[in-house]
Amino acid sequence: MSDFLSVTDLSADELAAVLDAARRLKADSSLGAGALAGKRVGLFFEKPSNRTRVSCEVATVDTGAHPVVLKGDEIGLGKREPVADVARTLDRYLDVLAARVFRHEHLEEMAQHAAAPVINLLSDLEHPCQAMADLQTIAEHRALPGTTVAYLGDGNNVCHSLMLAGALAGMHLRVAAPPGFEPDAAVTARAVALAAAGGGSTTVTTDADAAVAGADVVYTDVWTSMGQEAEAAERKQRLAGYQLDAARFGRAASDAIFLHCLPAHRGEEVTPDVIEHERSRVFDQAENRMHSFKAVLLWTMGNRP
Ligand code: CP
Ligand code: NVA
Repeated sequence: MSDFLSVTDLSADELAAVLDAARRLKADSSLGAGALAGKRVGLFFEKPSNRTRVSCEVATVDTGAHPVVLKGDEIGLGKREPVADVARTLDRYLDVLAARVFRHEHLEEMAQHAAAPVINLLSDLEHPCQAMADLQTIAEHRALPGTTVAYLGDGNNVCHSLMLAGALAGMHLRVAAPPGFEPDAAVTARAVALAAAGGGSTTVTTDADAAVAGADVVYTDVWTSMGQEAEAAERKQRLAGYQLDAARFGRAASDAIFLHCLPAHRGEEVTPDVIEHERSRVFDQAENRMHSFKAVLLWTMGNRP
């Protein structure tokens, strides 16, 4: 049984194995059916969700396990009661604790106090389940090792997990972010080291056009993440030069695909024509949240389909 708080909870070989399982689970819906019969999976959300909430619930049901969806205000993590008490209580009822939280440290504390595996459904630091779907979607386009991904905009949770997953998979990640919005320095250092070991690379620049030039995949995410709404006006102004429009997307490889974790803010980080572009894969990516979560869930439970 394994936690999945960060993409780096997987080795490069494990990442490849989980992605391969996700591919096979997508191809054959009978695979994994009933594998977790009798198990109970908690799906806890301190923030709103569409894709994660629904894809994780249906994936859980597909494995034969029973999902228990919990909202932030009913649990009051660290408010109504200490995080450790929440974790120790839920651990008596549930076999997996999957949680979307504001503070990554709360996930670490839950993992410390629960025997059940804890899965990160998005924190301020990472969104590892998203990165699994991202790589599954890219792998449907071209082999991961050597593929170049340009990420534009805020060096946030989605960016962090993509950098780490890309590094493990031997990909070339180019992040373009303005000063003050670069990815976390420790995450970047980890990604650079992992990429060097795996034959890929990780670079951070302020030059969005240079990052996109010739890239195989162009990725962006919102400029204002959940919980940062008070900073929205300032973020919009400081990130304005990082918008992905059709002209900038045209600098990528002629067969490049566009990815976005969604929800998207059209007219901010991306223009509507790029989301609706014939090479946009955002809804395949959304679908793959379901297949890849099933693979992650089975992996955390020690089940290798
Ligand atoms: N991409 C993603 O995590 O979407 P939701 O916030 O809707 O779950
Ligand atoms: N960076 C965004 C991702 C949403 C799926 C956020 O944290 O709100």
